[in-house]
Amino acid sequence: MNRRLFWKLCGPLALGTLVLVWVITFLGAETEQKMSFIAERHQQTLKAWGRTAERLHQAGDDQALADWLAALQTRENTWAAVVRSDIQPLAGSQLSTQFQEGFRLGRQVEWKIHLYFAENPIMDLTFADGHTHFLVTLPQRMRPGTYLPQVRMILKVALPLAVLVLLAVVIYRHLMGPLRQLERATRAFSEGELGVRVRALLGSRNDELTALAETFDRMAERTGELILTQRRLIADLSHELRTPLTRIDMAVSCAEEGVDTQHFLPRIRRECRLMRGLVEDTLTLAWLENEAPSLDQESLDLTDLLDSVIDDAGYEYPHHRLETELPHQAEISGSSHRALAQAVENVIRNACHYTPAGGRIRIALRADGDGYRLTIDDAGPGVPADQLELIFTPFFRTNRARDDRPDGHGLGLALARRQVEAAGGWIGAENRVEGGLRMSLWFPASRSRDA
Ligand SMILES: Nc1ncnc2c1ncn2[C@@H]1O[C@H](COP(=O)(O)OP(=O)(O)OP(=O)(O)O)[C@@H](O)[C@H]1O
Ligand SMILES: [Mg+2]
Repeated sequence: MNRRLFWKLCGPLALGTLVLVWVITFLGAETEQKMSFIAERHQQTLKAWGRTAERLHQAGDDQALADWLAALQTRENTWAAVVRSDIQPLAGSQLSTQFQEGFRLGRQVEWKIHLYFAENPIMDLTFADGHTHFLVTLPQRMRPGTYLPQVRMILKVALPLAVLVLLAVVIYRHLMGPLRQLERATRAFSEGELGVRVRALLGSRNDELTALAETFDRMAERTGELILTQRRLIADLSHELRTPLTRIDMAVSCAEEGVDTQHFLPRIRRECRLMRGLVEDTLTLAWLENEAPSLDQESLDLTDLLDSVIDDAGYEYPHHRLETELPHQAEISGSSHRALAQAVENVIRNACHYTPAGGRIRIALRADGDGYRLTIDDAGPGVPADQLELIFTPFFRTNRARDDRPDGHGLGLALARRQVEAAGGWIGAENRVEGGLRMSLWFPASRSRDA
């Protein structure tokens, strides 16, 4: 198995997770940065306060300044003051530059606010003289980053959750698409739609699921063929049984009316025998088609087998000239005596049936490659060229055969082909230039059982 599906799923998952982590980190830093500044309108308010404080200070009205500061502190629930930054060193002490720079208590309103500190920072609005400052602790209502916890929640919980759900939906659809097609096809097939196939519906996709679809198609192909063959067999069998049944029916009616009972009883027996043969042959054929068994359990001598079949044929057709060319011995192993005997008998009987009395039938067995080739040449009418393959189809008979030999059923060669194939060989027919039909059969000399 090529594990394509694994890589298809693994790729997007791994990459998706990496991108997600990166996006969350980036967005987290960006939004925090953007949320760390005092809003523009609050900056303006703070600056306006600074200007008011400066105006009151320059007017020299300390009481008004104190009142305004007190009112501001109460209104905004904060601390505010106006201070001087210059420190008078005493006793000859020197102020270091570091001290002078660090002495700034507040910070400018444009600066970034550290959102992690619980206390609000003190903002510094320096007056035009450079050493007087309006200081105010940033009122709570102006503190930026109020929605930071919610934003963090969205970034660390909602976003990953949404992305993962989306990924799950994509993966689910990717997997379920073909599975649904398969499910629909299986249902349609089980409801009798034998032509249904799945692979073509999956387009250029190529993974474990398309392999599953191909297996389904193969199964549907084979099962569909079997079902159709069986249906055809049943229909043909019923059709073939109708004639002997009608004949039996008529014979029984005549016997009941007392008309020549002695003549009709053997006729009924003959028809019954014929029907039994027909049903047995059809069942054997159905078994060979369904099970496709491998007949490879026995060893046998083809020369012996042919001798006995030819002997029987000689008795049955005493006016035919049966010529043989058989080796002294032709041992084969991994085969089936019963199947080969029946197949060869069917072919030799055909040659005798379709050859007029006095005609010559030549049976030759020769070593050929890893096995033996049997050829049976007769002097009959042959078979129309376009029907040389059709004669191996169950119940197929040429028009001429129907007229000349109405008691045949067209099962002999169909059975013979499946029997020979189950024993590892093949069978074929061709017309001879001199006239008549040549049947060729090939059997392997030995067959390993697991081949
Ligand atoms: N040697 C032959 N010469 C001419 N036609 C043949 C020969 N063998 C077979 N056929 C043709 O092939 C058809 C199929 O042969 P097959 O042996 O399957 O059936 P059958 O002989 O008609 O009946 P069954 O064998 O079932 O009694 C025959 O009906 C006949 O038309
Ligand atoms: Mg036959």
